[in-house]
Amino acid sequence: MSRTRVMLIGAAGETGGSIASGLLEHPNFEIHCLVRPRSAQKPAILALQDKGVIICKCDLKSSEEELEHALSGIDVVVSCVGSSEQQDQIPLANAAKKAGVKRFIPCGFITVAPPGGIMWLRDEKETVYNHIKQLRLPYTIIDIGWWYQLSYPRLESGKLDYAMTTANNEIVGDGNTPLALTDLRDIGRYVARILSDDRILNKMVFAYNEVLTQNQIFDLLEEISGEEIPRNHVSDEFVQNRVLAARQSSETYPFDPVKFIPRYLAEYQLSWGIRGDNNPEYAKYLGYVSSKDLYPDFAPIGFKEYLTSVFNGTATGIYTDRTISKAQQRMFPRSESTDSLQGRFFPRTESSDSLYMSR
Ligand SMILES: NC(=O)c1ccc[n+]([C@@H]2O[C@H](COP(=O)([O-])OP(=O)(O)OC[C@H]3O[C@@H](n4cnc5c(N)ncnc54)[C@H](OP(=O)(O)O)[C@@H]3O)[C@@H](O)[C@H]2O)c1
Repeated sequence: MSRTRVMLIGAAGETGGSIASGLLEHPNFEIHCLVRPRSAQKPAILALQDKGVIICKCDLKSSEEELEHALSGIDVVVSCVGSSEQQDQIPLANAAKKAGVKRFIPCGFITVAPPGGIMWLRDEKETVYNHIKQLRLPYTIIDIGWWYQLSYPRLESGKLDYAMTTANNEIVGDGNTPLALTDLRDIGRYVARILSDDRILNKMVFAYNEVLTQNQIFDLLEEISGEEIPRNHVSDEFVQNRVLAARQSSETYPFDPVKFIPRYLAEYQLSWGIRGDNNPEYAKYLGYVSSKDLYPDFAPIGFKEYLTSVFNGTATGIYTDRTISKAQQRMFPRSESTDSLQGRFFPRTESSDSLYMSR
């Protein structure tokens, strides 16, 4: 049987790295990675090359003709670009259509939220989804809830600091809102199943591991660590004001992706924390097919298992290859109230792309 030729975009990134690993577990995929020429020597890419992955040096910002050439003979495209690069998928989708790609997986991989003014980041992705539908390009949209790796607070002992981008100490509202969570490492294992599954062609899939509230996350970490964790509740009103301020300050011309980072992170809190969008019931209402129904035999990594490994010092950190630029630190100085968001604002290298253009 011939192998499915998959083109992965963003393989050196966090989501893309998970997907590369998940696909490599299945010999029926021939894996190609579209990599910016300047990133071709990144250790993550060299490691994939050693495992037989075919590297195609090309930038998403290349011409559509070049992208079409890169996608010639490819069956499935999986895109995992960063938050500020979503619109770069428009020419990619055009090229995929022309190249005869059989399925396009756009960069979803976020929490469940409705389109239309709740989350800028969701709407950026929805613009791409709409374009794909206008092209009549076969697709599957995959959302995954919130990464385990971003969901837990800091311990005062500092024992978890090695694994976190920064502390996530804020509890939104009363902390009892159910949140769907997925281990970053499981994303690729879900994608490997989804790519070969014709039941979900032209559908949305919600692939998630567990549903927990923030209070349950804090309780579990206290149980594992034996340490007391301060409960820093932020009210709905506080989050609403944060969203408003972030929206106002991001309305700049020309477009400045950096100003959108506080906005989309505040809007995450609005969506999953206040509105309670990120859960399986709402996903079902929005029309997602659940991974629990599709793959009842899938054994996800448990949240307790993950958190225990973080406490034991054996977990792998995320965004560890990134540095926070001095310019960004000056633009968004840390404060107690913004602390939990800051690490997720700035997880990029100065060299990696547009978010960290030097100023
Ligand atoms: N659910 C959650 O909790 C959660 C958490 C974080 C992110 N996400 C979502 O996951 C998605 C991926 O985020 P991430 O943090 O995993 O990404 P990431 O680590 O920042 O990686 C992005 C990748 O895209 C590549 N890329 C960017 N521009 C490119 C271009 N012009 N040409 C070719 N490649 C390009 C980068 O290549 P280089 O190697 O060349 O830089 C990098 O490998 C985001 O859209 C975000 O919405 C979800």
